[in-house]
Amino acid sequence: IPVEDFDLVIFGATGDLAHRKILPGLYRRYVAGQIPGTAQIIGAARTQQDDAAFRAEAREAIRKFANKGDDLSQLDDFLNHLGYVAVDARGEGGWDELKSRVRPGVVHAFYFSVAPSLFGDIAQRLADNGIADADSRIVVEKPFGRDLASARELNAVLARHFVEQQIYRIDHYLGKETVQNLMAVRFANMLFEPLWNAQYVDHVQITVAETVGVGGRGEYYDHSGAMRDMVQNHLMQLLCLIAMEPPYHFDPNAVRDEKLKVIRALEPLEPGDIVRGQYQADSDGPGYLQDVGNADSRTESFVALKVRIANWRWTGTPFYLRTGKKLRARTSEIVVTFKAPPHSIFDTENEPRSNQLVIKLQPNEGMDLTVMIKEPGPGGMRLVQVPLDMSFADALGADGTDMPDAYERLIMDVIRGNQTLFMRGDEVEAAWAWTDPIIADWEAGSKRPEPYDAGSSGPEEALRLLHRDNRRWREIRS
Ligand code: BG6
Repeated sequence: IPVEDFDLVIFGATGDLAHRKILPGLYRRYVAGQIPGTAQIIGAARTQQDDAAFRAEAREAIRKFANKGDDLSQLDDFLNHLGYVAVDARGEGGWDELKSRVRPGVVHAFYFSVAPSLFGDIAQRLADNGIADADSRIVVEKPFGRDLASARELNAVLARHFVEQQIYRIDHYLGKETVQNLMAVRFANMLFEPLWNAQYVDHVQITVAETVGVGGRGEYYDHSGAMRDMVQNHLMQLLCLIAMEPPYHFDPNAVRDEKLKVIRALEPLEPGDIVRGQYQADSDGPGYLQDVGNADSRTESFVALKVRIANWRWTGTPFYLRTGKKLRARTSEIVVTFKAPPHSIFDTENEPRSNQLVIKLQPNEGMDLTVMIKEPGPGGMRLVQVPLDMSFADALGADGTDMPDAYERLIMDVIRGNQTLFMRGDEVEAAWAWTDPIIADWEAGSKRPEPYDAGSSGPEEALRLLHRDNRRWREIRS
């Protein structure tokens, strides 16, 4: 889809996210021919530097964070699109110059890659200085608040100068290829949707496992924890896409209306439906407490939940969610386990096993459907379970390197003015409204998270969460 001419201003352009994701992502879109010849990408931050210095900084960041196989031969041409203005978010400095750089008559997007405490100041200065207008778009990152009250405040701060149609709240999980494919699989096929309900689905598992620890982000993470960092946004978004009703159209508000209904239908969690964990030190590295430098921390680096959706479609089908750091493998997947056939015509050694649809988000994107077949050969009627495997890379002839990554896709959606893959304000608030009481309970209590070994599947209690329901997690493997 062609992209209109645009000026993109990145506030916080000297920061980590800009270096790691935004600039390399834009470069890849440039190589893909999606950045119009006159488009400008203007870095804005406190550092006093000129265009040339910012271009040098961007060159280094793009080289460092390029994906394997990226073609870097067009880097110099791309850098010609970059400029820089030093601005003081809390003062007057730089705003006149920024205004003079932003061209009238093209798409304007302002990326707030800064601490949320600066959202209000920047929004106000964009408006007061006449830099943003009614057609401008603003992009904000998570964390969007740390509870319902702070998220409402952020929404209110932005709403003083921008209407909802101008606000693009990023959840980068929505930019992942398979996440969008989930909607295609559900709503462009007749095969699954008739079975997509409590009558036929036994349970759903959503796993987002990471091998990394909290690394250098200890201070942020210790005030956040897995629930705020991952569940409130990424896992709940996946849950919504799996569980929502078909939207009447693939249109931003139609999709987001349906997701919101799922969040509103979530039952409050019982204490027995929650497991929290913290990784332990081992010979390979420090434990969570050392990583965050807080020996008394009760923040969780792992959480597993049994979630129930109280609506006509899903009552009776639990959704088990888990995510954690320092686990056995880096893998994100959704497993839909169907019910066993109601009656088996085969003998007891030949019980049919349930069909499973495994939707893999990373590291390799694809889908697996397990089916029962007869074991080939003359041994009589013996059943075996086999996968009908579809790796998207194989099926589409893509080697994975030319699939846009989440950030680049989302940034281009901002320029195109498509909000479908962005969170609406009411969705974010509803998600906090559900997670707030859970977190408040933890913070009021004195219970420590369960310890788990680095490189494991999380605490034993998380396994028991399913065992007691006669179910088991799919093994974490890449
Ligand atoms: C971020 C979290 O939103 O997502 C990080 O803040 C986490 O803690 C990251 O590591 C995971 O993203 P991905 O795309 O690597 O699965």
